[in-house]
Amino acid sequence: MQQDQYGYFDDANKEFVITTPYTPLPWINYLGNDGFYALISNTAGGYSFYRDPKFRRLTRYRYNNVPMDSGGRYFYFNLDGDIWSASGRPVDCELDHYECRHGMGYSSFSVEKNQIASKLTSFVPLDTTGEVHRLQVTNNSDSSKELDLFSFIEWCLWNAEDDGTNFQRNLSTGEVEIESNTIFHKTEYRERRNHYAFYSVNRDIDGFDTDRNAFIGNYNGFGNPQVVKNGQSTNSHAHGWSPIASHHIKLDLAPGETASMVFVLGYVEVPEEQKWQSQGVINKKPSWDFQSKFDTDEKFEAELAKLNQYWDNLLGKITVNTPNNSMNRAMNIWNQYQNMVTFNLSRSASFYESGIGRGMGFRDSNQDTIGFTHMVPNAVKERIIDLAATQQSDGSAYHQYQPLTKKGNAAIGGNFNDDPMWLVLSTANYIKETGDVAFLDTIVPFEDTPDVQSTQFDHLTASFYHVVNNLGPHGLPLIGRADWNDCLNLNCFSTEPNESYQTTQRGESDVAESLMIAGQFVLYGNEYANLCDLTGRTEDAAKARVHINQMIATIDQHGWDGNWFIRAYDSRGLPLGSHTCDEGKIFIESQGFCLMAGIGMQDGRAEKALNAVNQHLLAEHGIVVQQPAYSDYNKYYGEITSYPPGYKENAGIFCHNNPWIVVSEAMLGRGDQAFDYFSRFTPLFRPQDMAKHRTEPYVYSQMIAGKDAAIPGEAKNSWLTGAAAWSFYAGTQYILGIAPDYQGLSINPCIPKDWDEFSVKRQFRDATYHIQVNNPNKVSKGVMKIEIDGQGIEGNTIPYNDFNGEHQVVVTMG
Ligand code: BGC
Ligand code: NOJ
Repeated sequence: MQQDQYGYFDDANKEFVITTPYTPLPWINYLGNDGFYALISNTAGGYSFYRDPKFRRLTRYRYNNVPMDSGGRYFYFNLDGDIWSASGRPVDCELDHYECRHGMGYSSFSVEKNQIASKLTSFVPLDTTGEVHRLQVTNNSDSSKELDLFSFIEWCLWNAEDDGTNFQRNLSTGEVEIESNTIFHKTEYRERRNHYAFYSVNRDIDGFDTDRNAFIGNYNGFGNPQVVKNGQSTNSHAHGWSPIASHHIKLDLAPGETASMVFVLGYVEVPEEQKWQSQGVINKKPSWDFQSKFDTDEKFEAELAKLNQYWDNLLGKITVNTPNNSMNRAMNIWNQYQNMVTFNLSRSASFYESGIGRGMGFRDSNQDTIGFTHMVPNAVKERIIDLAATQQSDGSAYHQYQPLTKKGNAAIGGNFNDDPMWLVLSTANYIKETGDVAFLDTIVPFEDTPDVQSTQFDHLTASFYHVVNNLGPHGLPLIGRADWNDCLNLNCFSTEPNESYQTTQRGESDVAESLMIAGQFVLYGNEYANLCDLTGRTEDAAKARVHINQMIATIDQHGWDGNWFIRAYDSRGLPLGSHTCDEGKIFIESQGFCLMAGIGMQDGRAEKALNAVNQHLLAEHGIVVQQPAYSDYNKYYGEITSYPPGYKENAGIFCHNNPWIVVSEAMLGRGDQAFDYFSRFTPLFRPQDMAKHRTEPYVYSQMIAGKDAAIPGEAKNSWLTGAAAWSFYAGTQYILGIAPDYQGLSINPCIPKDWDEFSVKRQFRDATYHIQVNNPNKVSKGVMKIEIDGQGIEGNTIPYNDFNGEHQVVVTMG
């Protein structure tokens, strides 16, 4: 294994260690948990924002820049004219040592050059609206050293979109103040903003700069700022143009001496009547209070310890120990961590998602909850309520909402007909995890009927009947603007290059139908019927089951192609994903959803469909969306055919849907197959491929180029993807088979046959279960016996029975 080509996992510390600044792409980490977020790359590049990455951006970032990843929180050293960076870049030079450690909510950077060692540790403390950075600088030589240190950040003028486009305005608005060791960014504070940002350091400074050109020089770059080269700040005061914050600190270090400094990049809001200290001078008290929380090493370390405790506690709710170390690393550390990032940010802000275009997706955010309900159940409840509040009384929903306002995003609108049923998934999953059945009675008015006291249960009913009320000519669900595959635009017919595939819909859309939604309806429709039963609504349950059975019959009649499930019928009534098509003969989504719904599980069709997936869709790095890839643009199919073959929805490996096949294989009992698939698209299983993948080896990416691509195996768009939640769900609930259910914890693993045993520690409601699973007969599936605290039980479910405390569970497979 060439595991050390760019880095390696340090599991004991829950870290990924990067050993070169020159990774194939910036390899980043997310800092922040509750409103304030920062993205930080392995060279400290990136940006931060408060709550909304579009409207409250603190620092500037230029996406897809040249060189890659330019702009961040930089610390420059100048020792006798030799300059370098505390995070490895942007100064390009030979270092004697470089190491970046991305951990749970913090990153650290160790660099050594000219016998000067530095360690930068960066995190967003809990309950804090800012980043803190501690820089420790040690003189490892045997003579005294005098060197100059310069900090640097570039302010974003708050609205990230305006900041990157509206130069006729924004080159004139920038304003700063400087007081002692702190630089304040107060652009637009004079008008409608009640917030400012600051950058401080807990010691005296020897100079500063706040004007970018003064610091960098007109034609220099981040790698060779003029001030750093000169070894002298200019004490520039920005008036418009591009305000920055840079401190100059002269260090004089005896042999072996370490200097330690804490820098704080903070965001504060000030009540309207307290905005000003005196005419034109901002009220700085909130900033001094803020800084005082982090002004010593002891305080800094205590905050870091609190953060570590927070993450240990969150991740410790599920701990697995299997014979496969990649599986352990994924389930115990990185997959859960990524799930929390998708909880916080959905698809809004990454190095590829600009943070200005997309809010919280209805489809995405509902699905994401299955990855973190066990960690933050109360926050999930709130999230589900926010999502439900954007639903209409006919069951349709806004496709996205904005986090600051929580209002549905009118620019995108709705009509994505898979959206409604995802609400059933998130709600059922939340109730299974928590037992909080009363949640169904919570009042959550529909967006269009704010005065009606609708309940969460009413929302699920509306979702269910939105499908029932929107069936097409075959009796299958109408696709609307699109289903999960939002590039399959069957009602768009666009021939105009400046038109959005995502928002253009033509005609009444009463023809094109989706087999993915059909399977989804059966799967989550059954959840809905179960919830009806659970709450004594037996008539509602019976009525729902009539519709579900009807849908199953329709799928049998119009959805089965002979060897797999058809994907859709287009606006002309022609099938997609059928052997009768020239291209796009077989798709992954309808196999996943019809099979997860149980259709064909008893009569051999599931085997056939899954064998077809294996035969046609399997690639080295996962399962591609469809085959054969579309070679030409086809206006009847839309965006899917706009991508070159092998990329994105046009036959890329779209990681999000791969777990659907893992779940289906596990339901069928094919544990080796399920695990093989899992280990293909999960980068943690393939550290040897980190160079080929290019994206971070510790998280899922949205897509890995498929077999038709020029370079198969290259991944794109890391971090913000539903692959995280679905993989964790498939891994813990279907491979390891430990699944919360209304009445208790159900145990039904489907594992590789050669596993002798595995164990899982699982907190479930008020109890903690230590589950030891033994596999003496080397089977993939089948539970012979379950004992709890030495007592045998009937069936596969550990009854909840108001358990609390610790319990030993021994499961024997066979
Ligand atoms: C992408 C999709 C994405 C959609 C919405 C499309 O261009 O291919 O994956 O969901 O845009 O932003
Ligand atoms: C990414 C989007 O966020 C998600 O909603 C969609 O399901 C996939 N792309 C597939 O097209």
